[in-house]
Parts: sequence; structure tokens; C-alpha cells
Amino acid sequence: MMDKEKIVLQKAPKGTNDILPLQIDDWYYVEKVIKKVLQTYGYREIRTPAFENTELFVRGIGETTDIVNKEMFTFQDKKGRSLALRPEGTAPVVRAYLEHNLSRENMLVKLFYLGSMFRCEKPQSGRYRQFNQFGLEAIGSSDPLMDAEIIDASLHVYRELGLKNLSLVINSVGCRKCRPGYLQALKDYFKERRDRLCSDCRERYEKNPLRILDCKNPQCQMEIKNCPSIFDYLCEDCKEHFNKLKEYLDSIGIIYQVNPLLVRGLDYYTKTAFEISSGELGAQNAVGGGGRYDYLVEELGGNHTPAVGFAAGIERMIATMQKQGVGVPKWDGIQVFVAVTSSDDIMPAFKIISDLRKYDITAEMDFLNKSLKAQMRSANKMNVSYVVIVGQEELKEGKVMIKNMKNGEQEKVSLTKIYSYFK
Ligand code: HAM
Repeated sequence: MMDKEKIVLQKAPKGTNDILPLQIDDWYYVEKVIKKVLQTYGYREIRTPAFENTELFVRGIGETTDIVNKEMFTFQDKKGRSLALRPEGTAPVVRAYLEHNLSRENMLVKLFYLGSMFRCEKPQSGRYRQFNQFGLEAIGSSDPLMDAEIIDASLHVYRELGLKNLSLVINSVGCRKCRPGYLQALKDYFKERRDRLCSDCRERYEKNPLRILDCKNPQCQMEIKNCPSIFDYLCEDCKEHFNKLKEYLDSIGIIYQVNPLLVRGLDYYTKTAFEISSGELGAQNAVGGGGRYDYLVEELGGNHTPAVGFAAGIERMIATMQKQGVGVPKWDGIQVFVAVTSSDDIMPAFKIISDLRKYDITAEMDFLNKSLKAQMRSANKMNVSYVVIVGQEELKEGKVMIKNMKNGEQEKVSLTKIYSYFK
């Protein structure tokens, strides 16, 4: 016998969550809606591994980002290769796109995914170390129409789920041509103000001043408020792209705000960057975000291929749905309970229940050797509509007793008619 006092009950690791049976209907519903909506836009699902070579994220997301610098769960395999649990889905999708030459048949490849992502962040409400995202990526088009479709599809998922009061903020973060000029302007601006920035931002100043704009520190926010606007530095191509995007969004009635300070936590973005947030969520209010990443395919070894995408946190979507009281279809529960009057009837009862399930009837029986009375109590607790009572007397006539639990009526039914009775 093990000494029970020495065994400590294990808990799920910090920042992770169990999704319990009581919550699972929300997840089934959200996943079903995501798949349905995205397929109407022609996006096909892709499933990539939960871990990748660390190098993929370092190259893809960028060395100066918090995700790569501080938040990756990395480990070594037995041969000493460095692997990382995926912190996001875009770099893995592009890796798979290149590895399997997905553009072979079509220049434009539209993919979506659902799955767990891992970031070693400080856990708090809405921020976890393992969380789930759905994302979509359109690889191959440089047209702002593609950006507009990605935004429309994302909002369509939220709308279909019944989410309200979401706000969309868009920006352009420029391209290889015009961003250096803006970075220099930021450097010039923050040069005198460096001492007033937090230690992280002082480092960002050296490595990637654009990151400063994303800092939530109130002191830094004060300094950021009056910094140069990216719109004074965009090249003609980026300006034209952004204006066209706005026109496309206007044409389908999508409301947005433009925020020149919106930068995102990943380095691969070019031109369009956007975020969707919910007023209901407090500090971690971004339910999703995305943008264009025209150089990522190239950075990962492919030909120049423009792309745009989006990803959303499913936990945050479900939290918003709950706060807004959105109703979700629930599991119907068990329809039929098959009870036995004695242990001699278990075998025929097992056959009946097995057949019922083949006819798609949700059925349950007793596995704890309960008395008939206790079985009836279980059936009541399950709120079943019918109980099939299997007893020797009826079996001799080739029948079972079926009790309607709503009105209490009982009826003898032939073994061969049980299924048509329920159908
Ligand atoms: P992201 O903004 O890092 O973008 O993440 C997208 C969404 O995932 C966030 O808006 C948030 O809802 C959710 N999320 C992120 N971190 C956490 C966390 N620690 N706990 C809970 N939820 C979280 C990306 O991941 C990009 N790959 C999006 C993209 C796709 N860009 C282009 N294509």
C-alpha cells in the first residue's frame, strides 16, 4: 500500500486550463461555426505539429519580439536539436506551404487552422500559457482586396457566433522601402526621451524602435503620444494599398478606426496591421489580430510571395460570448436508459443498447451493479425520455417493457420493434 499522505494531488501547470465536459458545448459550437464560415470563403483546414524547429520562429517572428525573446517554450531532443512549442500558427503554416509546395496547383492558397499555441507569459485573466487560436492565411496575393476578405471573414465568424460590440482598428506599418525612414524618425524622436522610457523600451530603442509603440507602460505611453506618425512616411505603394483597403471595407459596410500607433507583437508584418477587440474583456481585450506579411515566405526560403492572415484567441472569444449572454446549443443528453431487473439480463441489455447506438440513439445503462430502483433513479437524474426495462418474463415473449418517463406509461414492445418505436 502506498502511503497516501505522501502523494500530493497534481494540478495542471500554471497558465493552462482543463476544458471540462460542462464547458465543451461552447467549444464544439465555436469550432463548428469557424469551420462552416471559413469554408464558405474557400479556406481549407491545415493541421501542423504542436512543435517545430526553434529556428523557424526565430527567423519567422523575429529575434527582437517578446514572443521569441521571452515567451517560447523551447527544449532539446535527444540529438540536441532545439525545438519549440509553437507560439503562433503563421510561421508553421508558411513552413508547411513551402515544404509541400502547396502553390503547385493554385497561385493563391487559402488555409485555416485551429489549435493550441504556447507562450510562457505571466498568466492572468484572458492570458494563458497554453491557449487556442483559430487562424486563416491567404498566401499568394498582394491585392488589398485580400486583406479586406481576411478582415471580412474574421468578423463574419464573430458575427455568426453572436458576438457584439467588437471594434476593428487598422493601420499600415509600411514596407521594406518606407519603414527604415520611419524607424529613423522614431529614433530621432525618442533619442532625447530615452531616459524616460522603461528598460524594455530602452532596449527596443536600440533593436527595433517600432516595438516601443506597443508598450503599455503609462510613462512610455506619455512619450509615445506625440511621436511621428507612420502616415507621414509611407511610400506611394503602401499609401495606395491602405487607401484601397479602406475603400473595400467601406464598400461592404465594415466599420473601423485608423490608429497609426497600432503595431503588432510579431516582426513579419508589412503594410496592413489590424486588431479586433472586445469592450467586455478588460486588459486582455484583443480577441484577434492579423495583417499582411509580404516577406515571410521569402524569409523562410521561398520565392517572393505576398500573404495576409489573421488569428483569434478562442478562450477570449468564449469569455466574450459568456459575458454577452450568447446562447450555445447544448448536448441533448441521454435519450434512453436500458435497465435490467437482474444480473441475468445484462447480456441481452448490452445487445439492445449496442444496437440502439447503431441507430444513433443516445443510450446508457448501468455499470455499477445497481438495483432496479437505483437504476431508475439514475435514469431520472439523466432526464431520459424512456427506460427500456429488460426482464426475464418479457424476454420469454421476445419483448421488453418500455417506460415513457414523461407520462409514466409503460408498454411491452417486441425486441425487433424497439428501434422503430424510438424512430
Ligand atoms: P497574436 O496577436 O499574437 O497574432 O495572437 C492572436 C490572438 O491570439 C490574440 O489577439 C489573442 O486573442 C490570442 N492570444 C495571444 N496570446 C494569448 C495568450 N497568452 N492567452 C490567450 N490568448 C492569446 C498571431 O498569433 C498571428 N499569428 C496572427 C496572424 C495570422 N497574423 C497573420 N496571420
